[in-house]
Amino acid sequence: MSLRDDGAAAVEWVASYLERVNELPVLSQVEPGDIRAALPSSPPDEPEPFSAVLRDLDSVLLPGLTHWQSPRFFAYFATTASEPGVLAELLIAGLNQVGILWRTSPALQELEEVTLEWLGQLLGLPAEFHGHIEDTASTGVLSALAVARALRPGRRVVLCSEHTHSAADKAARLLELELRKVPVDDAFRLRPELLELDDACAVIATIGTTGAAAIDPIPEIADACEAAGVWLHVDAAYAGSAAVCPELRPLFAGWECADSIGVNPHKWLGVPMDCSALWTRRSDDFRRTFSLVPEFLQSPDDAVNLSELSIPLGRRFRALKLWAVLRCFGRSGLEERIREHVRLATLFEKWVRDEPGWEIVAPRYFSLVCFRREGTDEDNERLLDQVNASGKVFLSHSRLADRYSLRLAIGNFRTTEDDVRLAWEVLRREASPL
Ligand SMILES: Cc1ncc(COP(=O)(O)O)c(C=O)c1O
Repeated sequence: MSLRDDGAAAVEWVASYLERVNELPVLSQVEPGDIRAALPSSPPDEPEPFSAVLRDLDSVLLPGLTHWQSPRFFAYFATTASEPGVLAELLIAGLNQVGILWRTSPALQELEEVTLEWLGQLLGLPAEFHGHIEDTASTGVLSALAVARALRPGRRVVLCSEHTHSAADKAARLLELELRKVPVDDAFRLRPELLELDDACAVIATIGTTGAAAIDPIPEIADACEAAGVWLHVDAAYAGSAAVCPELRPLFAGWECADSIGVNPHKWLGVPMDCSALWTRRSDDFRRTFSLVPEFLQSPDDAVNLSELSIPLGRRFRALKLWAVLRCFGRSGLEERIREHVRLATLFEKWVRDEPGWEIVAPRYFSLVCFRREGTDEDNERLLDQVNASGKVFLSHSRLADRYSLRLAIGNFRTTEDDVRLAWEVLRREASPL
């Protein structure tokens, strides 16, 4: 194996993949079990060249990939592994830093703290927030609730809206907390007047819910939490990156009052999966909850190890890819891309509004458009299946006000107006016989 030659071939593979990804069916067209059937049932006895891995990536695995890197991926929340992020992943693996203690990689720890300070500045967060990187927003929610529970041991209730991400349900289940869902208003926002905080240790409020990208009324929720001494976690996993645009910043009013905030740079900021930012103004409480330093990890260093603020001991050098992305795009590059996605979503929203037989079903603030075709839920479900089976685009759905809704989520840095136009053409074409 030659790192130089095979490495050049791997980089070439990725470059050519990204050039042709928009020609591949976005949603994988294989059936369950197809990929397994094409793989040997046991590992090789003898070493194989790396070229064999690349060959089988093309011939065996490629058909089983759903292309998140496609500019026509509009499902869930679309993401991008940008070029600097991809290259940084190579460096991260090459360096293989294992950040268990500050001394095991001072650069990892200090770069992580600095990049989260930078990102906090880009998003307009107050300087007193301390940030670290988690794998996912789900871990961030779990961690925040663990801290909230430890602070108020007698209180076992967590409140959130019925549209909060299921990560909250999972975290509450694991922590043996009771999750109570508060009803929402017509714009799918938590109704703060219905918050009953007497037994609560935490509230989870969302900026950019998964189903509709709705925005809970954070200022009112924050006031209620403060008065009741209840932890407020703001989940801005998807939408948080949009705070980089000054004109969108008002949508984030009040998040600076949260006790913790989660934003996923791996969703809308060009950082490859996984990289989830978690800020807190109460890092001492995080440390009291998570710090556990056994004898073999004790050190004379005058530094708080990031492992004392989170669940895992070892951490990857994720900060390197965030750093690479922040440097290679700069504030202006990130702003530009997010602003363009919002423009494209505005355009798509207008096409839908102007077309008889179609309707917009939720207010749109960011780059997610929720809409449906007239007819039954089953009609809309069938339409979505047909659109996705075309392989040309990939969209997903949600249930809003108990109606099946289609979602077009723009978030890939390579998506152009032509891609969005194509999505609209495919939707209209597949809808016409229905
Ligand atoms: C609002 C919101 N919160 C949390 C999550 C969970 O994110 P992760 O996959 O990083 O756990 C998502 C995922 O889409 C989300 O939309």
